[in-house]
Amino acid sequence: MRKNVAFDSLPIVDRVYRGFKIASMAPAGSPLCVQTDGEVRYRQTASPFGVTEGTVLGTRQGRIAWICPEADFLRLSREVETVWGDRRLLTPGLIDCHTHIIYGGNRADEWEARLGGASYAEIANAGGGILSSVRSTRAASEEELVSSAGRRLSRLLHEGVTTIEIKSGYGLDLESELKMLRVAQVLRKSFMVGVDATLLAAHAIPSEFHGRIEEYVSLVCEEIIPAARPWCNAVDAFCEKIAFDRRQTEKILRTAKSLELKIKVHAEQLTHTGIAASAALMGALSVDHLEYLAEEECKVLAQCGTVAVLLPGAYYCLNEKQKPPVAALRQAGVPIAIASDSNPGSSPVLSLLTIGHMACTLFGLTPEEAFLGITRHAAVALGRGREIGTLLPGYYADLAVWDVERPAEILYGIGHNPCHEVYYRDQKRERT
Ligand code: NIG
Ligand code: FE
Repeated sequence: MRKNVAFDSLPIVDRVYRGFKIASMAPAGSPLCVQTDGEVRYRQTASPFGVTEGTVLGTRQGRIAWICPEADFLRLSREVETVWGDRRLLTPGLIDCHTHIIYGGNRADEWEARLGGASYAEIANAGGGILSSVRSTRAASEEELVSSAGRRLSRLLHEGVTTIEIKSGYGLDLESELKMLRVAQVLRKSFMVGVDATLLAAHAIPSEFHGRIEEYVSLVCEEIIPAARPWCNAVDAFCEKIAFDRRQTEKILRTAKSLELKIKVHAEQLTHTGIAASAALMGALSVDHLEYLAEEECKVLAQCGTVAVLLPGAYYCLNEKQKPPVAALRQAGVPIAIASDSNPGSSPVLSLLTIGHMACTLFGLTPEEAFLGITRHAAVALGRGREIGTLLPGYYADLAVWDVERPAEILYGIGHNPCHEVYYRDQKRERT
């Protein structure tokens, strides 16, 4: 019979993870072990990736109870269910904080056209791009979308993802946007993964509103956002010459805020619009892409606590030349997250590990910065920085186990998958 372990002064646990190297991704000084009398017994050291060896992680009711030195555990423990690490690395489950994995069809034809010299903006202006995926997504049934998005989600989950953000934005009418959000909800219930759904009705101007962009913005503000409110956590918009201008985007974000939804924005991807700084001042959780962010705007993001989400997959696939101002973001102290931006056009990528690798090779992040970008900082980008993305007491036991010697090895290869197993809320996930 399994017994709960009882410590003289430590919270009791259901299960322990022993024999791992643990990369908590927590800042130095964070309390790893708090006694029942409130006294902090053990703190995170300043090691890279927050790695400690010879430590034990205890869980209780799906959450982390404490991380404590093996010696304390041996002195205090009785019988308890144990997951043995065999010296593997234990990290927070990965978080992909910006994706568009629900869509019909594909855009391989546009990829060929871009390889032949056409630009992303030219294809969009000719009625292709996002609008091409809108046609296929409107035509697809809910079941078809669940099945194709489910296959994509499985690929991401194989690499240790335990939370994903999924945007709508290929419906662009009330019914089709709600259909996409319902699909996100089915995925949440069908897979062992946290899903944050984001409404992106302002992704492009639907063809039936051609030349009537203000009317579409009114539809988004007056009908689509209020109707979608129960089905999403946040509202996003694409602010760009080929989509919505800054004034229209701000109106959409203001409406979302007035309904107590979180806000974020596709910003400064192809041109500079100034929306990143103004959205940060409005309280945006994150501003995403940022190739054309001005260096002085980094300070505004830092002051507002807004996360810079970098999307190297889109930069790579569109063969962009302008890189986001990483040095200025770093210097200003802006938290940097990394995401797949998985979508049928600019980033048909289903590997967050490859994206982390690209963040290092293309944007010059260190492996530790890139890993923070798909764990702790990605959690902050979702407004969940106090519950996921870090291994600390009180956080969900969303855990990835890696067959590696050292953390940088997780992002080192392309096409390698060193993920050994995954626990979601302390439950082992069978291979999907
Ligand atoms: O994040 N920039 C706008 N939205 C997506 C592209 C979507 C698409 O091309 O279908 C992005 O890159
Ligand atoms: Fe995107």
